[in-house]
Amino acid sequence: MGLNYNELDAEKLEFVVVAAAGDLPNGERLFVEIDEFRIVVFNIAGKLFAIEDICSHDNGPLGDGELETEFEVSCPRHGAHFDVRNGYAMSMPAVEDIQAFPVRIEDGNIEVGLPID
Ligand code: FES
Repeated sequence: MGLNYNELDAEKLEFVVVAAAGDLPNGERLFVEIDEFRIVVFNIAGKLFAIEDICSHDNGPLGDGELETEFEVSCPRHGAHFDVRNGYAMSMPAVEDIQAFPVRIEDGNIEVGLPID
């Protein structure tokens, strides 16, 4: 089981600016690479969600997948579904959750919380 959104320790997060809020309109996605993290940020009906852009099954480009339901993205490689809210692996062939990251808007910028050692 991978780290889960809810398992990230708020005391050990560093929020990093990834874009201006206006650069990610409703229905769009943003791909960012920060240190070792490859992340896709979704704007779904005005709410922002950030997950790893790497499928836990076989490293598929998860951020290129279709949104199957409001919060469910499918991996374009073999079709596993993940919940964008918490990284939960919802269907085979993925059995491991992926990392989800907290997102916030501060001073007009989108910030993603990354775990710091
Ligand atoms: S790589 Fe994503 S389902 Fe196989």
